[in-house]
Amino acid sequence: MIFRILEDQFAQKAREARDADRRFMQLALALGRRGQGRTWPNPAVGAVIVKDGVIVGRGWTQAGGRPHAEPEALRRAGEAARGATLYVTLEPCSHFGKSPPCADAAIAAGIKRVVAAIEDPNPEVAGQGHARLRAAGITVDVGLCAAEAAFDHAGHFRRIRDRRPHVTLKLAVSPDGKIGAAGGKPVAITGDAVRDRVHLLRARSDAILVGIGTVLADDPLLTCRLPGMGAHSPVRVVLDQNLRIPATSKLVQSARETPLWVVASELAEAAAVTRLGAAGAQIIRIPPGGTPGLDLPAVLHALAEKGITRLMVEGGSRVAASFVSSDLVDEVWLFRGAEAVGADGVDALDALPLSKITQSQAYRVHASETFDRDTLTIYGRA
Ligand SMILES: NC(=O)c1ccc[n+]([C@@H]2O[C@H](COP(=O)([O-])OP(=O)(O)OC[C@H]3O[C@@H](n4cnc5c(N)ncnc54)[C@H](OP(=O)(O)O)[C@@H]3O)[C@@H](O)[C@H]2O)c1
Ligand SMILES: [Zn+2]
Repeated sequence: MIFRILEDQFAQKAREARDADRRFMQLALALGRRGQGRTWPNPAVGAVIVKDGVIVGRGWTQAGGRPHAEPEALRRAGEAARGATLYVTLEPCSHFGKSPPCADAAIAAGIKRVVAAIEDPNPEVAGQGHARLRAAGITVDVGLCAAEAAFDHAGHFRRIRDRRPHVTLKLAVSPDGKIGAAGGKPVAITGDAVRDRVHLLRARSDAILVGIGTVLADDPLLTCRLPGMGAHSPVRVVLDQNLRIPATSKLVQSARETPLWVVASELAEAAAVTRLGAAGAQIIRIPPGGTPGLDLPAVLHALAEKGITRLMVEGGSRVAASFVSSDLVDEVWLFRGAEAVGADGVDALDALPLSKITQSQAYRVHASETFDRDTLTIYGRA
């Protein structure tokens, strides 16, 4: 009988400890997401330090990718880190980059246990961070909330494993399947609440990409215009083989405040390259790839080389269709508005039916939301 009671008490304690671990890791994940869109080329990591059930330090990767999350949390914890547990959403780094390894900082601070959500696939780390901690006598538990961490770090993982960014396609589609009006006439497909959600997605992306057709039709600015979040604007990228982008466009006019990268063919005129360069834009030249437009795998590779981990594709019709048919879309944010545009409007995916996304075995619904009269369905890879 007495053994039974002790056994029950033991099981209860273990359950409570697991629940506490999960709660602290959820907090670390939420902190990590604060950095999304601003830490590239580094992953946006979150860290929490807990001693005797009390949070003594919190940190997340800072803009530009440094300091990393762990030294931020350790700095706040100070002496309280001694004997504490560190919860971190990605394996602590083990290599000397621009800063000393976080594994060493945790050892020096006297951390007793590390709970890491997932191993870092970066070959410079890849298990060595955990090994270094274990060699110093620290208990290391890996895998708590691993699926959520993999989702949050999708950009970093994709860039390391496939040498391209994680691609999120955003489409705002009318009930009759259109994303724009005929002849470039301005038309609002969705309302104000959706606009805010899109701007938040922009803030969480490292870069945002459109085709030159959208620039010529809409003259967009593509910044994040949520109050106080201007500095969260992503790098703006335009696919424009022959550098047709007008010097008077909002994108070019604002290139000195918010980076503008124009991706062109190697055959684009040198004079246009000089003109745009003088206006503050960067030109990325891509060799011809045998397809009518720019070779998308080469474009994505070039963006990853420059450090982009999370890319938002905002259209238009032809660019969206190219990404979908090249199987380069990892996530789709499909907003649906309430007002029809009319048969002469611009089709969502050019010649492709929207069912290439909505009915495809390749995608499954990840989440959905409602905004006034509009809806959002988020699809992820199946
Ligand atoms: N509702 C929405 O969510 C939304 C969002 C954005 C835009 N839109 C609408 O979409 C319309 C514009 O769409 P659009 O199809 O005309 O233009 P687009 O898709 O923005 O741009 C197409 C152009 O991009 C260039 N390009 C370079 N490489 C490409 C590649 N690999 N694949 C495809 N294009 C490539 C090509 O021009 P070059 O050969 O000259 O390089 C091509 O003509 C507008 O009506 C706009 O309002 C709607
Ligand atoms: Zn680190």
